[in-house]
Amino acid sequence: MRKDDDLRQIGRWTGGPWPYVGVTGLLLVTLVGMLIFRPGAWSERTDLRLRPGVPEIVALGERLYGEQCATCHGPAAETNWDLSDRALFRATKDGTPGMSGFGGILSDAEIIAALSYIKAQWPDDIRARQDRINAAAEGE
Ligand code: HEC
Repeated sequence: MRKDDDLRQIGRWTGGPWPYVGVTGLLLVTLVGMLIFRPGAWSERTDLRLRPGVPEIVALGERLYGEQCATCHGPAAETNWDLSDRALFRATKDGTPGMSGFGGILSDAEIIAALSYIKAQWPDDIRARQDRINAAAEGE
């Protein structure tokens, strides 16, 4: 081998394309991960809207409300919080001053059902007011 050929080999990677494959793979995994776990993705996927118009959900909620909520809150028609669906959900799941959260007791769907039942008991004007609160809270 000639001497300048030897020199040209110095510092050259001779292990094949694997470092490039590895780096590209790592980038792909990172990108896919960022897509799946991008901030807010979870709350976008979980529909936290109350369903006072869906009879099965309201029926489940009625049972849960009777078992879990009525002792403290009394008749559902008399509960009334000026909070958005999302805020009602968070307060019920995580707790609020005076009430410990139901996160370990009820599933997310059960919490939505109990709250949907509550909303279904409200008179029209209270429901309409809470709809406006939801509209204002959208995009938060
Ligand atoms: C051990 C008593 C108790 C039980 C059981 C209970 N709560 Fe409460 N809850 C309270 C108290 C006390 C407050 C605070 C005062 C208020 O807002 O009425 C409260 C507040 C709330 C609030 C308003 C939160 C806020 O930030 O204003 C929501 C929503 C709520 N409860 C939902 C529920 C639901 C749904 C259930 C049943 C799954 C339930 N609670 C069961 C005692 C209870």
